[in-house]
Amino acid sequence: MKVLILGAGGREHALAWAAKRSERVTEVVCAPGNGGIAQVARCVPVDLKNVDEMVRLAEAEHPELTIVGPELPLSLGIVDALQVRGIRVFGPTQAAARLESSKAFAKQFMKRHKIPTANYAVCTHAAELEGAIGYFHAPIVVKADGLAAGKGVIICESRATALEAAHGLFNGTLLGESAEQVVIEEFLQGEEISFLCLSDGTHVAPLAPAQDHKRIGEGDTGPNTGGMGVYSTDEMLEPHMTEWILRHIAEPTVRGMAEEGTPFVGVLYCGLMMTPRGPEVLEYNARFGDPETQAILLRLESDLTDVLEACIDGKLANTAMRWTRGAAACVVASSAGYPGGYKTGFPITGLARAAQVPGAQVFHSGTARVGSQIVTSGGRVLGVTALGDSLPEALGRAYQAMAEIQFEGMYYRRDIGHRALEKKA
Ligand code: AMP
Ligand code: GLY
Repeated sequence: MKVLILGAGGREHALAWAAKRSERVTEVVCAPGNGGIAQVARCVPVDLKNVDEMVRLAEAEHPELTIVGPELPLSLGIVDALQVRGIRVFGPTQAAARLESSKAFAKQFMKRHKIPTANYAVCTHAAELEGAIGYFHAPIVVKADGLAAGKGVIICESRATALEAAHGLFNGTLLGESAEQVVIEEFLQGEEISFLCLSDGTHVAPLAPAQDHKRIGEGDTGPNTGGMGVYSTDEMLEPHMTEWILRHIAEPTVRGMAEEGTPFVGVLYCGLMMTPRGPEVLEYNARFGDPETQAILLRLESDLTDVLEACIDGKLANTAMRWTRGAAACVVASSAGYPGGYKTGFPITGLARAAQVPGAQVFHSGTARVGSQIVTSGGRVLGVTALGDSLPEALGRAYQAMAEIQFEGMYYRRDIGHRALEKKA
């Protein structure tokens, strides 16, 4: 079986690595891929913003299975475009991907289907905004409607700053493009959990739970990023809590999408806040998380291609997933300056020594190969990931592997998993 993966980050490296482990898979192609992915897959260039180009590539490569990594091609309708040409593809259609690509759609959908989420208002112009903001107590969360690569959420300490932020989204000064809709939302408090499930349109199957660390700084300080590290253990969600989330969030989401004529097939990523009144949805993503996938797939014992095909074929109910007990942790190494501006092209050393640490896997997020040298090419550069019998062991191995690696300006958080460790102590 030949597998084509669309994407270029650490998530796609983990997907390529997991696909490659399958006994059924003879070849993995990744488009466009990166310097690390090239070690497990044949990388071919493609523009992830250009549906026609991706379709031409898939038609030329003839994969038996295509996996779409990032949200952008999903929101542009790559799955619809491949499906009409009879190409087997894992991921939601453009209409189903609106759960991620439009926050207004997602909020209104949750309201229609009584799925727990923060109270909100969707505003389409400034006057509406001024009326709505009076109903909220500070802090107030202001969100751009569309995809914004993690930059579209502003937490405001007063109504005045919330108004200013919302105006900034409307007039384009904040994100460069002017928003057509702005969501104002109640601020939720608690711990965040990334609850990812597979869906075949009818059934859902949860993946191992994970906790992401979104802020750049230790102690969860500083600006939001794509994710600076993640850990996954069995203990982070009690079985009754997993049941509750399935019953009240994941299953009603998939049922609601099917009832509305836009069945959701793919990875339903529920970003949850564990509030005092129970889990509430902060956001949906319509894809695997990054870096969640790096830690989650390290724990997956089942054949990745089997479970993704079960989703495409509507046979998820008969598919059991096996997981390695214990823990996995992923620590992201980023370029100096990220999530702001950064320089690239710096040589990375120590990758071979890092790979020798027991249980460790180094997934590449933003790297390129220049001759025989791997160099930095992105904000997030590496996801150093490790398995362990316990969280301290997994974290210890990830940090041990990280200590072998160097590049100019390399930064990583030294406190990934800290809250779980403190809770245990
Ligand atoms: P989103 O892209 O909607 O997940 O938002 C990115 C991050 O902003 C989340 O992971 C949370 O840390 C934070 N956030 C979003 N919505 C809220 C909310 N209603 N209350 C508190 N924090 C939020
Ligand atoms: N790690 C957060 C995301 O994938 O959106």
